[in-house]
Amino acid sequence: MIQEVIITTRHPDGRAHMAPMGIRHTGQHIIIAPFRPSTTLDNLLAGRSAVVNYTDDVRIFAGCLSGRTDWPLVDAQQVPVSRLAESLAHTEVELETVKEDPERPRLICRPVFTQTHSPFMGFNRAQASVLELAILVSRLDRLPMGQVLRVIDYLRIAVDKTAGPREQDAWDWLIERVVAFQTGADGTRGLP
Ligand SMILES: Cc1cc2nc3c(=O)[nH]c(=O)nc-3n(C[C@H](O)[C@H](O)[C@H](O)COP(=O)(O)O)c2cc1C
Repeated sequence: MIQEVIITTRHPDGRAHMAPMGIRHTGQHIIIAPFRPSTTLDNLLAGRSAVVNYTDDVRIFAGCLSGRTDWPLVDAQQVPVSRLAESLAHTEVELETVKEDPERPRLICRPVFTQTHSPFMGFNRAQASVLELAILVSRLDRLPMGQVLRVIDYLRIAVDKTAGPREQDAWDWLIERVVAFQTGADGTRGLP
């Protein structure tokens, strides 16, 4: 099973970095698999540690993809990395082994500390829609725009029916990114 989380790492100059990533839990390890090039990968290779932040605040996923990375952080307990100040839980990890791959190396990490902060309050369909849109936004340069727009039409149903203010904000930020990409306003490219 893959779980969508926020990985925090530390730049060599001490600044914090955060990125949404899909992780896998094996019995003893957590596997993080960043596609090259990746700042998370560089930071983990240099610093050998990270924090896996479990959060249902989908604004953080959407924020990372729309230039909003100013989320409150606090120091982790056992590794020299910051963690999200507000999350449901977090796990601090140390890098144990790297399974090399030219495209997507697998970082096999050992959990050293886990803490729960808030209870899980149930699934929300709008949160799932935001996560799906966030994935699409992270791949806009590789997906046909027609397909992206069709998927958005479907995902929007759950947002309209079930979103709270956080989910609505996150959705709006991601839609802005899609529109900017479509019109070329983000400096990448316009409609094909
Ligand atoms: C829910 C979600 C899961 C993601 N999972 C991964 C992943 O497992 N590996 C990856 O390289 N990028 C993943 N991405 C995309 C990265 O978050 C994004 O490309 C990021 O900018 C790259 O990471 P970096 O900050 O380490 O360079 C994911 C994005 C989302 C929204």
